[in-house]
Amino acid sequence: PGLATYDPGFVNTASCRSAITYIDGEAGILEYRGYPIEQLAESSTFLEVAYLLLNGELPTSDELAQWTHDITFHTFLHENIKTFIEGFRYDAHPMGMTMAAVAALSTFYPDAQDIHDPENRKLQITRLIAKMPTIGAFAFRHGQGKPYVYPDNELSYVENFLAMLFKMSERKYNADPRLSRALETLFILHADHEQNCSANAVRSVGSSGVDPYSAAAAGVGALYGPLHGGANEAVLKMLRRIGDASNIPDFIDGVKGGKERLMGFGHRVYKNYDPRAKIIKKAADDVFDVTGINPLLKIAVELEKIALEDDYFVSRKLYPNVDFYSGLIYEALQFPPEMFTVLFAIGRMPGWLAQWEELTGDKEQKIARPKQIYTGARTRDFVPLAER
Ligand code: CMC
Repeated sequence: PGLATYDPGFVNTASCRSAITYIDGEAGILEYRGYPIEQLAESSTFLEVAYLLLNGELPTSDELAQWTHDITFHTFLHENIKTFIEGFRYDAHPMGMTMAAVAALSTFYPDAQDIHDPENRKLQITRLIAKMPTIGAFAFRHGQGKPYVYPDNELSYVENFLAMLFKMSERKYNADPRLSRALETLFILHADHEQNCSANAVRSVGSSGVDPYSAAAAGVGALYGPLHGGANEAVLKMLRRIGDASNIPDFIDGVKGGKERLMGFGHRVYKNYDPRAKIIKKAADDVFDVTGINPLLKIAVELEKIALEDDYFVSRKLYPNVDFYSGLIYEALQFPPEMFTVLFAIGRMPGWLAQWEELTGDKEQKIARPKQIYTGARTRDFVPLAER
């Protein structure tokens, strides 16, 4: 008692023990349950990765078939959640709607309060992963003023999501397989990232023993911020503002002068190229083969080149992170910038829930309650209003 280590932002403080995701920031290594992200991005599906994160092992084909069936079975939302989303203003940010809808789910599933039963936890986890694309798609269509499209459970997780977003007639929606694979890859890359700001929020809120919907809503809220998941939206705004490669030097001078940050650059953990950014660059090429080049790509490539040679960025070990190119892909896939963070949230949900599941089984965990260093006034007497 009385002793505290001052560590704002937990730069040197481990908040938990975890067996889910391994990162070596100096070497640019990211592994889920020991599997390199490059191999998972190349060869697995998002649901396989979600299973891996949650259960510790890759599924057998029977396990994957059961898991896929369970997820598919839970994709529909209660009609009142639809009504709830309809109640938002036409220009509401889809991330705000997503956060609210995830939190609202806790009232639809009061059984989720029992967090001590593993089967019950599994049911809520399945519901959340299954319903995220439906929530995201309804929030998107609400902003567009278009009727909502219900889940098509004959489609894969990602294809169903694309259909709910973009389907415009009674005809079956057929996504280009190269585009749906690119989105699947992005979901895999975002699926977990150990104790990032939103995972920490999920753990912190979850440590009070609350249901997983409330804890996951805290994760969505943390991810909304421009220094976290909101960075991909900010990158696109930044590239658009730069407008032309000839304006990059002036922009870089502004960043170096402390006017603003180069969004999509820098990371608390990676002091080397973010391994996800490398994979995303390749996915971008695949997408642009189908959709044609996004003119902002030229500015992004040039900006990256200049920054990587500039002493300001080199000396601070600032490299492109996952958000530098992801927004360009999302835009090519016809998503408006305000949807980018929602895509991140859908991808990250299995990671949040794996962290929450691990937390609930961890006997060493206590309610999150950091210390503070008090800097305010010491004891003094109350002054009546008339005397102030
Ligand atoms: N542009 C310019 N300068 C930067 C940047 C940047 N993007 N990032 C860090 N710096 C500078 C910072 O000003 C500081 O300089 P100095 O030592 O002279 O004061 C130094 O680098 C260290 O920065 P920091 O803020 O102490 O680093 P951090 O580990 O607390 O922040 C970060 C990590 C990701 C918040 C930060 O790099 C940043 O703001 N990047 C831009 C936003 C972004 O792209 N976020 C996405 C992160 S990856 C996906 C995700 O987590 O969602």
